[in-house]
Amino acid sequence: MSKKLFIETLGCAMNVRDSEHMIAELHEKEGYELTQNSAEADLILINTCSVREKPVHKLFSELGVFNKQKKEGAKIGVCGCTASHLGKEIIKKAPYVNFVLGARNVSRITDVLHRDKAVETAIDYDESQFAFKDFRSSPYKAYINISIGCDKQCTFCIVPQTRGEEISIPTELIVAEVRRAVAGGAKEVFLLGQNVNNYGRRFSGEHEKINFTELLRRVSAVEGLERIRFTSPHPLHMDDEFIEEFARNPKICKSMHMPLQSGSTSLLKAMKRGYSKEWFLNRAAKLREMVPDVSISTDIIVAFPGESDADFEDTMEVLNAVKFEQVFSFKYSPRPHTEAAEYTNVIDPELASERLTRLQARHDEILDEISEKHLGRVYRVYFEELRPEGMVAGRSDNNILIKAEGSEELLGTFADVKITKVSRLVQTGEIVG
Ligand code: SAH
Ligand code: F3S
Repeated sequence: MSKKLFIETLGCAMNVRDSEHMIAELHEKEGYELTQNSAEADLILINTCSVREKPVHKLFSELGVFNKQKKEGAKIGVCGCTASHLGKEIIKKAPYVNFVLGARNVSRITDVLHRDKAVETAIDYDESQFAFKDFRSSPYKAYINISIGCDKQCTFCIVPQTRGEEISIPTELIVAEVRRAVAGGAKEVFLLGQNVNNYGRRFSGEHEKINFTELLRRVSAVEGLERIRFTSPHPLHMDDEFIEEFARNPKICKSMHMPLQSGSTSLLKAMKRGYSKEWFLNRAAKLREMVPDVSISTDIIVAFPGESDADFEDTMEVLNAVKFEQVFSFKYSPRPHTEAAEYTNVIDPELASERLTRLQARHDEILDEISEKHLGRVYRVYFEELRPEGMVAGRSDNNILIKAEGSEELLGTFADVKITKVSRLVQTGEIVG
């Protein structure tokens, strides 16, 4: 009987990819097979996120449950950003945890597995050229890392401390991975990094230095590849060359993540984001002008220390001007050892909740407006998942989630779908070609 691995992945797409790497390494080198049932697992991994405080609290109650339910002799490992951030504290608080493996130490999974109470969390460890074994959770699209770490020092963000300094992965490794994914049947790739359009800033060792725009050109030259997505780009690095390539290159999907954080120039300064409200509006307007069908998504933090009514109104103004297709909004959460955690001008929690509610309500109105416009239109959809009641779902090039009647044989194929029913989150349509 093979050994069984249960893995829970929290947080961002980079964690999803890190989990895939660990699954592949554990399969190839240790013979583990995946299970969805933690009670029958020989190894339980939690790949954690520490970007906000709430999931960190949840971790310990969850670990307690796993420990109670696990089968005898099963090991528990804590991986990812909270592992980097809390290190050996985790084993102090939950002594039954067998090892702690930081977000930048994924390649060491088969090593810590055999060292009880091992704690590997070095953030200067260089995995940028590590050749992981292959595992993909979806055969239709492939997540591919293009850089590790982040060099920005946004004052609210814990990521530079958990993932370390930014190193770009050599271009030839990325292109080779894209080729392998396409040969394996993927028609779409998702390029990943904390700050993708800063690509090429630093490599470890001697490598050809190209920027993100050039990387997109090279990746798009791979035959058989039909779609390229990427996350997350930084608004500061959205220069004209980048936006023009985005507009012109037919393989690049027309959806852009533009993490705003705040619409107030003075708060953006306090956050050390490096751009102003005007720059952000100018970039979004250029995108909308060059790519009329583009979808723009964003991240917004409300109630950052010192956020005045006027600052918040600036954020609402940007929301109204850009009319984002998707908004991920959060209340500011102070994170240990970040600059903003020292700021004393904190916002009253009730006011913070009020602002978040107002922002989300306005975004819902905007979404209603946007989704109305889909009715009767035809989108080319790449089907990726089965839905209940005989439906399949996928995304249009500009990231609209669309479902239609159909079954397995449609997965991994493209079809033209005419929208017959709209809603905020998922559109329903019928296949017309
Ligand atoms: N480079 C990544 C950032 C990862 S964090 C990116 O641009 O997507 C993802 C999002 O979490 C951030 O964009 C920010 O909106 C939010 N976030 C980060 N730190 C936070 C904090 N301390 N409190 C609340 N939200 C935070
Ligand atoms: Fe965090 Fe800013 Fe980097 S949000 S991940 S420090 S770009």
